[in-house]
Amino acid sequence: MTTSFRVEPGGSLRGELRVPGDKSISHRSIMFGALAEGRTEVTGFLDGEDCLATIAAFQAMGVPIERPERHSVIIDGVGLHGLRAPAGPLGMGNSGTAMRLLCGVLAGQSFDSVLVGDASLTRRPMRRVTEPLAQMGARIDTAENGTPPLHIHGGRNLHGHRHTLAVASAQVKSALLLAGLWSEGETCVTEPAPTRDHTERMLLGFGYELQRDGRRACLKGGGQLQACAVDVPADISSAAFFLVGASIAQGSDLLLRHVGVNPTRTGVIDILRLMGASIEVLDRREIGGEPVADLRVRWSPLKGIRIPPELVPLAIDEFPAVFVAAACAQGETVLTGAEELRVKESDRIQVMADGLSALGVRCEVLPDGIRIEGRETLDGGEIQSHGDHRISMSFAMAALRAQGEIMVRDCDNVATSFPGFAELAGGAGLGIAST
Ligand code: S3P
Repeated sequence: MTTSFRVEPGGSLRGELRVPGDKSISHRSIMFGALAEGRTEVTGFLDGEDCLATIAAFQAMGVPIERPERHSVIIDGVGLHGLRAPAGPLGMGNSGTAMRLLCGVLAGQSFDSVLVGDASLTRRPMRRVTEPLAQMGARIDTAENGTPPLHIHGGRNLHGHRHTLAVASAQVKSALLLAGLWSEGETCVTEPAPTRDHTERMLLGFGYELQRDGRRACLKGGGQLQACAVDVPADISSAAFFLVGASIAQGSDLLLRHVGVNPTRTGVIDILRLMGASIEVLDRREIGGEPVADLRVRWSPLKGIRIPPELVPLAIDEFPAVFVAAACAQGETVLTGAEELRVKESDRIQVMADGLSALGVRCEVLPDGIRIEGRETLDGGEIQSHGDHRISMSFAMAALRAQGEIMVRDCDNVATSFPGFAELAGGAGLGIAST
């Protein structure tokens, strides 16, 4: 039996809280710390299963990594040429980020390696990284349909390449830049639209030379990473559930502390504000090369919108929550240009449409998006999350505007990105119980 969330209808979200650390930055802090010269201390680390898989992978490759306390990690870097062959396959669990970024790292090693994932990750497309890496001289075997497990051949001589990406993907961009560290000559990646730039920022933070020019980033192989302190801000993707919950629940007034507000991640704030949400960005500051702020969100009536396509990559992980906001808005919300949602931890367009329909919301599935007709209140009902953490948490928040109990099934994977979600949300006023 897996965990379910039983969520009482109604209520509001109030008070102050800090959601766990940013998943993207936490993964990268381990990778860069492991490959750097010297000791890297990470604070604010996300102790979620995805990032723990990244730690375990580098430990299996001989990197000393300690956990002195919760949210903190100490990594004794082995340098760019210090990884050792792992004894067996490296398990990436549910994490697409860990698997795709590690492809870039492992393609440049002297040893062979195998990457495996859980059932969801084993369905996800990997050719988007293996094909451009092959253009740099890498050899990575996938299953027949381009999915994991991946067998990465070592001992290849990589060479730099000028990549122009077809898909706006920070994971692909990052894998290629990482492979560039072991490549002869220059590696450049041009993306079709801006995506999260934590890799570029962290490379610079670890003292690696990198040129950025609009949508292009370039680096040369043969340099060194220098250890440094990494302070991970709270994850805006986790804060998003609370931004939506407080926006839809009358009487809500919530302060979310120390949230990462990197402009490549704040599409959710822009979208919710276009819908009429009341979100204030307070005390904006820069911590370790990443912008951080406190977010105050208060209940406000929402209206349906056409979501601007340029915001799609900047809110790519937040659409399940945004769809719940749309279901509670007056009028229709339309999203297009978001086919990437179909290849996330689940097919987030179909799974959200099925869940919203179970709550009495009319929606139309489009090949690359969805049309949602908002309602004053939602019905109670039972939701199948298909093991997708962000679907589970989005529907838990939907109960704030429901007339009956919402039962969300298959919620174990919430622990991949947001350990303690039910406790934190319960403390803020959501009537949630894990069963
Ligand atoms: C991530 C990039 C995004 C995002 C994922 C984390 C990253 O994936 O959905 O949760 O850390 O680089 P894509 O690059 O596939 O869009």
